[in-house]
Amino acid sequence: MKISIANKSSDAEALAELFSINLTPDYISHSELQGYRALKPGQWANDIHLQFLREIGERLAQPLKTMPAKGNWRGVIEAHGNDKLVGLAFVTISRESAVPFGIIEDIVIDKTHRGAGLGKEMMLWLIDGLRDAGISRVFLESGLGNTGAHHLFEQLGFKQVSIVMMRDL
Ligand SMILES: CC(C)(COP(=O)(O)OP(=O)(O)OC[C@H]1O[C@@H](n2cnc3c(N)ncnc32)[C@H](O)[C@@H]1OP(=O)(O)O)[C@@H](O)C(=O)NCCC(=O)NCCS
Repeated sequence: MKISIANKSSDAEALAELFSINLTPDYISHSELQGYRALKPGQWANDIHLQFLREIGERLAQPLKTMPAKGNWRGVIEAHGNDKLVGLAFVTISRESAVPFGIIEDIVIDKTHRGAGLGKEMMLWLIDGLRDAGISRVFLESGLGNTGAHHLFEQLGFKQVSIVMMRDL
């Protein structure tokens, strides 16, 4: 699998399509509800493909071989197997805190390629890339019911630090 930082020449439409066709209701966590992606727990926005396309467009910039060692950054990581797009991740770096940190905001492996170690390979690539950029802490969040993914994250050393609560008024 070839993993790289997506840039302005990347196929934004293919990235948005990969995200859209691999969605499940249990993926939705509070950040989906705090933006334009989802309307309520378990319910994606009707125009979710357009929302992904917009978000990806905002993150594609000049080509980068590695994550930047200075400043804040928001990027998309793409993974190809046999020249076919098989995975993506959204990553943010924030250096405006006592301990600078990364966030793996999204990670998606195409349904037909799951269970073959690609998700773990991509997570390890992201962790190494953040470490090489001088980042020593990484966060992620995931929908409460997305227990399969939690299994993978726990295996990689992630631990729960918060419980997010919500109430509709
Ligand atoms: C989560 C996801 C990225 C994992 O990708 P993957 O390529 O299927 O995972 P891998 O094959 O690398 O699995 C790595 C390990 O995690 C475990 N794992 C992965 N998905 C699992 C699941 N759904 N249930 C149980 N265990 C799971 C595997 O058993 C494996 O363990 P092992 O190394 O002991 O064999 C993929 O299932 C996905 O895209 N899901 C939809 C999007 C999502 O939920 N993303 C995470 C929230 S941000």
